[in-house]
Amino acid sequence: MNLERLNTQAQQEISNVKSFQDLENWRVKYLGRKGELSLFFDSLKSLSFPLRKKQGQKGNQTRQFLLSLYQQKREDLEKNQPDFEFFDLTRPGEKIKKGYLHPLTLILREIVHSFEKIGFEVVEGPEIETEYYDFDALRMPENHPARDMWDTFWIKPKGKSRASKLLLRTQTSPMQIRYMEKHQPPFRIIVPGKCFRFEATDAQHEFQFHQVEGLMVAENISLANFKFIIREVIEDIFKHQVELRFRPSYFPFVTPGLEVDIRQKQDTRYKKQDTNEWLEIMGAGMVHPQLFKNVGYEANRWQGFAFGLGVERIAMIKYGLDDIRLFFGSDARFLEQF
Ligand code: PHE
Repeated sequence: MNLERLNTQAQQEISNVKSFQDLENWRVKYLGRKGELSLFFDSLKSLSFPLRKKQGQKGNQTRQFLLSLYQQKREDLEKNQPDFEFFDLTRPGEKIKKGYLHPLTLILREIVHSFEKIGFEVVEGPEIETEYYDFDALRMPENHPARDMWDTFWIKPKGKSRASKLLLRTQTSPMQIRYMEKHQPPFRIIVPGKCFRFEATDAQHEFQFHQVEGLMVAENISLANFKFIIREVIEDIFKHQVELRFRPSYFPFVTPGLEVDIRQKQDTRYKKQDTNEWLEIMGAGMVHPQLFKNVGYEANRWQGFAFGLGVERIAMIKYGLDDIRLFFGSDARFLEQF
C-alpha cells in the first residue's frame, strides 16, 4: 500500500473507532509489527540507497502522523468514559448499620414486663442517695457491721449533717423507704435501677450493676406469696428451663431473710460447665416491722415481702455468658449479637 493511501485509509478508519478495543485493532493493523507501516518499510529493501532514504523519511513522517492520530483518539475515548462501566440494578444495596439494644436493656424490659403482667407498678429512684436511705432507714445505723456487705462509693461531704451525706446507691432497697413514706398499702411495686459498689472487678463482679427491687405490702402477705410470685416470674423469663432454690440468709431490713438461687435444668443449649451450679440471683425476705414503724404505718396491720434481683446474673444465665465485664466493655462484636 502506498503511503498516501495508507494515510487516508488509516484516518478514515480511526474516525469510526468507538472503543478501546477498536483502537487497539487499529493500532495493530497500521502500527503493529506486521502492520501496514512495517510492510511499507519491508518493501524499501529492494530500492537503491538514495530512493530508500527518501522513502524512509516519508515513512517516518507517516509513523509520526499515525502515532498522533492514535494518541488523540485515546484521549478522546478516555474523556468520554462514563464513570461506571456497568451498573447492576438488581444488586442488593449495602446494609445500613443500625444500633442495637443493649443486652441489659433487653433483659430489663423482659423482667419488667413479667412483673407488670401480674400487677406490679414500676417506679424509679435516684442513683445518688443519702446515707439515711441507703443505710440508716434500712436498720443499719453508723458503724453497724452489716454495712460491710455494701462497699460504698462515698461522695465528698459538703458540711451537711451525717445522715444526709451522699453516696452512689449500693442497692435499690432505699426506694422501699422512699416509696412507703409517700404511699399507703396495699401496693406492689418494682424498682429497676443501677447500683454501685466499691469493689475490684473480675468475671463475676462489676462496680456498677443493675437490680430490680420488689416490694409488696398488703394484709395477710406471707413468704408463700413471695415464693409463688418469684417462681411465676422466673419461669416466665426462662421458659421453665431453670430450677429455683430458697435459702435462709440475713439482711437487716427483712426478717426472715433469704436468698434465691437458680440452676439450669440439663439443657445442651447452655454451656456444660454451668449446668450444675447454683447461682444466687436475689436477696429477699419479709419486710422488718421496724421499717413500717419508721414510715408511720399502722402497727401489726400490714405485712410485706421485698426482694432485690440481680439483673446481670439473669442476663448471664439467659445468654450463656461467663464474664460480667462484657456488659460495660463497649465491644461492638459482643453487643451486635443481641
Ligand atoms: N438490697 C439487697 C442487696 O443488695 C437485696 C435485698 C433486697 C435483700 C430486698 C432483701 C430484701 O443485696
